[in-house]
Amino acid sequence: MMYSPNQLSQLVNQHIESLQFARKPFGLYDPITYVLSPGGKRIRPVLMLMAYNLYRSDVEAILNPATAIEVYHNYTLLHDDLMDRADMRRGKQTVHKAWNDNTAILSGDAMLVLAYQYMANTKSACLKPVIDLFSRTALEICEGQQLDMEFETRSDVAEEEYIEMIRLKTSVLLAASLKIGALLGGAPEADADALYDFGMHMGVAFQLKDDWLDVYGDPAVFGKKIGGDILCNKKTYMLIQALRRAEGPTLADLQHWLDAEQPNPEEKIAAVTYIYKVTGVKELCEEQIERYTRLGLESLSRVALPESTKQPLCDLMQGLINRQS
Ligand code: IPE
Ligand code: IPE
Ligand code: MG
Ligand code: MG
Ligand code: MG
Repeated sequence: MMYSPNQLSQLVNQHIESLQFARKPFGLYDPITYVLSPGGKRIRPVLMLMAYNLYRSDVEAILNPATAIEVYHNYTLLHDDLMDRADMRRGKQTVHKAWNDNTAILSGDAMLVLAYQYMANTKSACLKPVIDLFSRTALEICEGQQLDMEFETRSDVAEEEYIEMIRLKTSVLLAASLKIGALLGGAPEADADALYDFGMHMGVAFQLKDDWLDVYGDPAVFGKKIGGDILCNKKTYMLIQALRRAEGPTLADLQHWLDAEQPNPEEKIAAVTYIYKVTGVKELCEEQIERYTRLGLESLSRVALPESTKQPLCDLMQGLINRQS
């Protein structure tokens, strides 16, 4: 039987809600309950269940690995928010704000361990390839996050470097979620690889949209602070293109804001957003989102299953690139 993404999302939500992290010391576990309480799109576990469900019906059998991927994702967010000096996520204070920096580090570490426990807790003959892929992915995400941080202090980041960075920090986790689901479901290797490629392309479009929302999102629904990337000099696709396209006084102005020691946050966000407007980089970003969505569809077409079976994955990707949060 085929489940709808909505049904799978309900299943994941119910399962994660039923987990109990209320252990001592509460200072370590309370932030875990806080970050895993309802909120977030839960797309990674849903992708895993969808990929599994292409081959098997008993989706409940992989709720542990699905939980693992969401716990892992939330661990990266705890550390990411500390690294990005972000005060708000999903409309709430981030863990390092609501508690402190050390809590974000240590509760995050505990979540990484919990994620491995959940991932290993599955009755599958392919546990070894699953753990290997999970570990490789987790290391790649560290690599991507390191590049993301290093790029903050550079003004010469090339488009290709940016794409490689977001592949590492974001795409590989979507790709691995799909491939792990496929492996656990007993998919043919070629299908599992095509699903992985689909996830990689979708992940690039997904992060491009995340960067886009960071500037153009609706503050009432985005859940994070608009302009956070601008304040950190994050080398997003838009900033990279603005640096390439701006000339004369506009380029000087952009460079001034990038170099400013302690700028007024609102002024800096407004000024850089204005430069994005005059350089037309919003539309360039949208074109790239379209491009990677098309590449994703091409990869999905290589999965040897009927079109109608793959349609929900196609719809999900469309929904993600049109998302508002
Ligand atoms: C946020 O991920 C981090 C990125 C990779 C852009 P999501 O946008 O999936 O965040 P939640 O879990 O739905 O809040
Ligand atoms: C997220 O990148 C990548 C990881 C969490 C690994 P961002 O820094 O853009 O994510 P948000 O915008 O804070 O969710
Ligand atoms: Mg961040
Ligand atoms: Mg970040
Ligand atoms: Mg972001």
